[in-house]
Amino acid sequence: MTENTYFTPEELQHMPRHIACIMDGNGRWAKKRGLPRTAGHKEGSETFRRAAEFMSDIGVEYFTVYAFSTENWKRPAEEVSVIMGLLEKYLREAISSMVEKNIRLNFFGDVSVLPKKMQKLIAETTELSRKCSGLTVNVCLNYGGRQEIARAARMAAERVQAGEIKAEEITHEYLCGLMYSADMPDPDLIIRPGGELRVSNFLLWQSAYSEYYFTDKLWPDMDAPAFAEAIRAFWHRNRRFGGL
Ligand code: FPP
Repeated sequence: MTENTYFTPEELQHMPRHIACIMDGNGRWAKKRGLPRTAGHKEGSETFRRAAEFMSDIGVEYFTVYAFSTENWKRPAEEVSVIMGLLEKYLREAISSMVEKNIRLNFFGDVSVLPKKMQKLIAETTELSRKCSGLTVNVCLNYGGRQEIARAARMAAERVQAGEIKAEEITHEYLCGLMYSADMPDPDLIIRPGGELRVSNFLLWQSAYSEYYFTDKLWPDMDAPAFAEAIRAFWHRNRRFGGL
């Protein structure tokens, strides 16, 4: 996946700053091939790795992916454990190559319920890549948009209770600073492969003015031309942010 094949130098000047993806369709991708669902997640994690490289190559600044939702715990234990295993493998392998590529890794979500060794790995990867100034990749893990908003409200309430701030100071700008995405721009473009036309509790706060792009392609089939097509569709949208 190299930038010059898909975009002209002029186009590269107009990339969305922040792209987010719901990585849906892994299970169906595997089923179509007569493979277990977990094979789809394995392929999906490779797709994620390639997608992050592509975003980095074309100069996107932030790439946020939905890896595991607060609702995904309802899946069979074996599937949950394979997804966690893939994440662990990715983190172990990614540490050096990501820093080499100047990619910063962040996590959105409540990782405190994950196994201790995962938490340690997450903390290490975050710390090691902290100074990287290229693409920032946000992996949403045990993440839910409503939970994120409730967490921010709770933090604000605690500050009021402690006398640190007055209730009137809780504006939407103030709450932005309490989201996992504090200091980051909102996503310009949210891509959902897999054919479903819903938001599924993903970045509810941050997506107020995001453009959505839905496609029937399954996540493991999302390649460079598919991402380029989504970006081209985004360029044709007329973003008004509530104005005229
Ligand atoms: C949705 O597809 C996908 C998930 C719930 C898991 C996504 C996880 C990965 C891509 C692997 C690990 C991630 C990283 C960041 C290395 P689905 O299973 O709901 O598909 P279906 O709708 O076809 O059943």
